Amino acid sequence: MKIFRTPQSLQKWARAAKLEGKKIALVPTMGYLHEGHLSLIKKAKAMKADEIVVSVFVNPVQFGPNEDYEKYPRDEKADLAKCMEAGATAVFFPTPANMYLPGHSVYVNEESLSKGLCGARRPGHFRGVCTVVAKLFNLAHPDFAVFGRKDYQQAQIIKRMVRDLNFDMKIVVAPIVREKSGLAKSSRNTYLSEAEKTSALAISRSLKNLKPGGSVQAVAKELEKAGLKVDYVECVDSESLEPAKKVAKGTTVLVAAFAGKTRLIDNRSF
Ligand code: PAF
Repeated sequence: MKIFRTPQSLQKWARAAKLEGKKIALVPTMGYLHEGHLSLIKKAKAMKADEIVVSVFVNPVQFGPNEDYEKYPRDEKADLAKCMEAGATAVFFPTPANMYLPGHSVYVNEESLSKGLCGARRPGHFRGVCTVVAKLFNLAHPDFAVFGRKDYQQAQIIKRMVRDLNFDMKIVVAPIVREKSGLAKSSRNTYLSEAEKTSALAISRSLKNLKPGGSVQAVAKELEKAGLKVDYVECVDSESLEPAKKVAKGTTVLVAAFAGKTRLIDNRSF
């Protein structure tokens, strides 16, 4: 497995691999890999990529000033071992300094799907995500990139970016991987105390119990009752992310809630 630490070294290698006719898959991550990430690598393998590049980069530009950039968990050694085990052929570990040169002043802004949900609560977040993902696409020359469905809004925005900026590649969205308890896997789960973990179960439970025609207000109430602080529970059209009047086929219900200080997200499509 190759390890790249500079954008230039990855780009040079990826360009050569493309010229040899190799099919390249990219799995963008912020590291501290768990089974959710590994499922994305396995998906790339199942799709017969010749090269599977995993990027591990806690992207400062997508964190707000009061968010957890400094404290975000990092473990390079464990990530390397997990990438190798899951079948990655290359890992990219850039630094903020080599990804964002002094005076960096170009950003990618998606202006429709980013308006609501997490975009409304985390100003600048998707601008940071789109910018770093566009850079990773330019560096790794992927034929396809795999994202997790847990970040439903992010996946929709990236698909739109690929369409609107004519990136010559496909976006693959892989299913949410959950703990046995139902809790969606997330690197941020490591912040949770046992009590918070128990409260957090209300998120997947309430989504699972929600029926077409059911009410998002009832979900929010259940979350508050379990001790969570609701950021939002919203039902939207699965494609446009515009608010939907009722939970029905073609809609997605998305949840963001705090267990203590930890912000968790989850969703279910109908
Ligand atoms: O989903 C994530 O982990 C990040 O938002 C991503 C796509 C790796 C960009 O930093």
